[in-house]
Amino acid sequence: MIYIRKADFSTDIGSIREVRLAVFVVEQGVPEELEMDNRDPSCVHVLAFDGEKPVGTGRIDIELGGKVGRVAVVASERGLGIGRGLMQELHNIAEHSDLESVWCHAQVGAVPFYLQLGYVTVGDRFLEDHIEHVRMEKSSVLSAQRTSRRGSLRDGYAGGSCEIEFLVTCSMCEREVESRRNGSPLEQHV
Ligand SMILES: CC(C)(COP(=O)(O)OP(=O)(O)OC[C@H]1O[C@@H](n2cnc3c(N)ncnc32)[C@H](O)[C@@H]1OP(=O)(O)O)[C@@H](O)C(=O)NCCC(=O)NCCS
Repeated sequence: MIYIRKADFSTDIGSIREVRLAVFVVEQGVPEELEMDNRDPSCVHVLAFDGEKPVGTGRIDIELGGKVGRVAVVASERGLGIGRGLMQELHNIAEHSDLESVWCHAQVGAVPFYLQLGYVTVGDRFLEDHIEHVRMEKSSVLSAQRTSRRGSLRDGYAGGSCEIEFLVTCSMCEREVESRRNGSPLEQHV
């Protein structure tokens, strides 16, 4: 069972650090001392768990106008929709913080991931922590059906496919409904 939730930085710091160390420090070679930074306590964080094991994380800096960052999924769990689920949770947090748009400094290799979430590239590439980045922006975080942030994720492996299905709470009827990976309820229910 995979589950995504908002994190509490002070109590979840161990889980956040575990994912970031595996992805950014061990896999990508970012210096360990740069990984946790002084923006962390001010950001809102999200975590994904496979059972008890933390497998994904990300953060949003509301004070910086909705800067999304440190989005990471451990290598063994990629391609399952967890990254998209983390981003949906971050977008929900932005929406509930009255932000209409969000932005990020995307690693060039992750640009396709952000493009399919509705981000567009802005400006030239630049180096950050020795990795090529580009600024990306998403002009609206409002989901079509305004699903709430109380979403969770559950394993939906069926018939050999690897689709993960989400359980989201519709903000209009407050019922928990099934959703595909784009966060929209499967069918009209209100
Ligand atoms: C980027 C990352 C978070 C994506 O996580 P993930 O769980 O594998 O992503 P998902 O499975 O939710 O993928 C969502 C969609 O993005 C696409 N996608 C994800 N990573 C991609 C990539 N590197 N290139 C092209 N497409 C990609 C998937 O194919 C999927 O598209 P689909 O729904 O049309 O099939 C993960 O690869 C990662 O942690 N990378 C290393 C750290 C990193 O680069 N973070 C970004 C920092 S800016």
